[in-house]
Amino acid sequence: MDTLLSFKNVDAGYGRVKVLSDLNFEVYRGEVFGVIGPNGCGKTTMFNALIGLIQPTKGEIHFDGHNITNMSANARCNLGLGRTYQVPRPFENMSVFENVLVAAVHGAGLSEQAARPECQRALEITGLYDKHAVRSGELTLLDRKRLEIARALGTAPKMLLLDEVAAGLTEAEVQDVMALVANLKAEGFTIIWIEHVIETMVNSTNRLMCMSEGTDLLIGDPREVMASEQVEAVYLGVEEDE
Ligand SMILES: Nc1ncnc2c1ncn2[C@@H]1O[C@H](COP(=O)(O)OP(=O)(O)OP(=O)(O)O)[C@@H](O)[C@H]1O
Ligand SMILES: [Mg+2]
Repeated sequence: MDTLLSFKNVDAGYGRVKVLSDLNFEVYRGEVFGVIGPNGCGKTTMFNALIGLIQPTKGEIHFDGHNITNMSANARCNLGLGRTYQVPRPFENMSVFENVLVAAVHGAGLSEQAARPECQRALEITGLYDKHAVRSGELTLLDRKRLEIARALGTAPKMLLLDEVAAGLTEAEVQDVMALVANLKAEGFTIIWIEHVIETMVNSTNRLMCMSEGTDLLIGDPREVMASEQVEAVYLGVEEDE
């Protein structure tokens, strides 16, 4: 297997609060790698450590042949890490196109001229091109999620980090998101997808990791991970908020 990303014995957190604890996993080039785990177990924190918002206090992170453990967030973005946020945060008063352009110019350090074709492509892939001139504040939740993905695509990433893009959507909209992720995979992106909507994790991922208390509890075939007693146990007594 061609490994694009690896976490090796990573500890990380916020100030004195340790959240990730001896986290180990690998993501292979071209796969959709799903991540589940109870609220607060450290899934979003793993993304924060991956993109360089927080620094590990132990262990190493390698991406595409580079040791990125101590690299700046900008340098990591330039290497091809594109993230989405759990709460979409577009600039409400800018158009859809301008939002993607800002991400490409500031995130990937592209000139506006170089960024424009990337942005157009990002909007085509996410199915937003028809709405490129719409003010972002007027978008439906589903389209805001699409825009969040388009903004990540605007930085020309190799790997896409999706944080609960299906949360809050209707059943039909969840199907649209699954189709979009299949599209992204077909385009050659490697994807890490954090989600509480179980259907997406079983049907759209190649492998699934269940996290618990900041560490990798179980990694494997999505159906087997879902069916495991270990995974069931970490969810027992934990109230779902989604
Ligand atoms: N900026 C922060 N400063 C301090 N603690 C934080 C910060 N962000 C998150 N935490 C804490 O870190 C722990 C892990 O949070 P994280 O957001 O990574 O969980 P999660 O698995 O993504 O949860 P959810 O499924 O609810 O999104 C929680 O206890 C949370 O309160
Ligand atoms: Mg989270």
